[in-house]
Amino acid sequence: MTATRGLEGVVATTSSVSSIIDDTLTYVGYDIDDLTENASFEEIIYLLWHLRLPNKTELAELKKQLAKEAAVPQEIIEHFKSYPLNNVHPPMAALRTAISLLGLTDSEADVMNPEANYRKAIRLQAKVPGIVAAFSRIRKGLDPVEPKEEYGIAENFLYTLNGEDPSPIEVEAFNKALILHADHELNASTFTARVCVATLSDIYSGITAAIGALKGPLHGGANEAVMKMLTEIGEVENAEPYIRSKMEKKEKVMGFGHRVYKHGDPRAKHLKEMSKRLTNLTGESKWYDMSIRVEEIVTSEKKLPPNVDFYSASVYHSLGIDHDLFTPIFAVSRMSGWIAHILEQYDNNRLIRPRAEYTGPDKQTFVPIDERA
Ligand code: ACO
Repeated sequence: MTATRGLEGVVATTSSVSSIIDDTLTYVGYDIDDLTENASFEEIIYLLWHLRLPNKTELAELKKQLAKEAAVPQEIIEHFKSYPLNNVHPPMAALRTAISLLGLTDSEADVMNPEANYRKAIRLQAKVPGIVAAFSRIRKGLDPVEPKEEYGIAENFLYTLNGEDPSPIEVEAFNKALILHADHELNASTFTARVCVATLSDIYSGITAAIGALKGPLHGGANEAVMKMLTEIGEVENAEPYIRSKMEKKEKVMGFGHRVYKHGDPRAKHLKEMSKRLTNLTGESKWYDMSIRVEEIVTSEKKLPPNVDFYSASVYHSLGIDHDLFTPIFAVSRMSGWIAHILEQYDNNRLIRPRAEYTGPDKQTFVPIDERA
């Protein structure tokens, strides 16, 4: 038995949800470029969960179901209120805990038939934006804001976060960002979710595990790390010495590289364009200019193109979102993909249990504790 480091190139399951073939990302066979330009995030949720696009009636019904379940349960509000104010608790840890709490208080959590699992899927997707927004407000000493029934997820998230109506361009940008992050084949957090529920554990456990995996800086946590890096760079002229020094120290430049894409992440160009528009609008184009300079250096020196996390950082910053909420926002979107994969796993389940190549000592002789040095 020989291990494949990081499971690179290992095909661990079949899936009809999304594919990456020749550096093209599709959801159920639809090119991400088409979906980003033309669809709403709710249409994408339907597509990922039903493996087809909805008609108008089906989309309206999904929106109604999501709106009905959008309120954040009082247990979660009270739990967040029990934390000290300000930035003491990291929002990804708060979100991971809140989803686990949601499972604890759902009487259907362990009811495993497809209808109950679909109801839980709606609850999770409907509540996650409000949970992130409520956490953000409560830690600042503000009251959570009730979502508006007539708003979609993108508009409602920005509204419940800031307590004021977002502009159309902000909603458009956020809707696109949600679509671009919705699913991504067998990425680390989705694999985590599938491994968890393949034991026939419940959907809340699968999502809680997935959030834990997304949190890491090699995965979803990279977008926050990118903004930290841009803030440290500060001005365009500092970009070159900063990046060169990083490369000399053999440190990774966050937001670059990818296990699967070798010639570029197809999602990055959409976020790059949005970053240009939004930073222009806010009068802070330095974030875009700095990002461009960093990209030039890293692609020419390391031949590494930017991934989804690189330009999403300046997009979210331009939307006025706190930097430590970037990864929770990734989770708001990826919830749709995690759920699609969990439902697919339940539908054709087999325990996921690979092997390990043993590299430890062999044929040891047991020495009783009293005789050990
Ligand atoms: N900066 C500098 N060098 C890099 C980077 C980077 N961002 N990414 C890869 N490399 C180099 C590595 O140092 C390594 O070089 P070596 O062979 O000389 O040692 C080589 O490229 C291969 O890198 P690995 O880390 O082995 O590649 P892997 O496929 O395991 O990792 C990953 C992919 C985790 C995305 C990696 O490129 C990385 O750490 N990037 C930065 C973090 C990041 O942006 N993560 C978000 C990914 S997208 C997402 O999850 C949403």
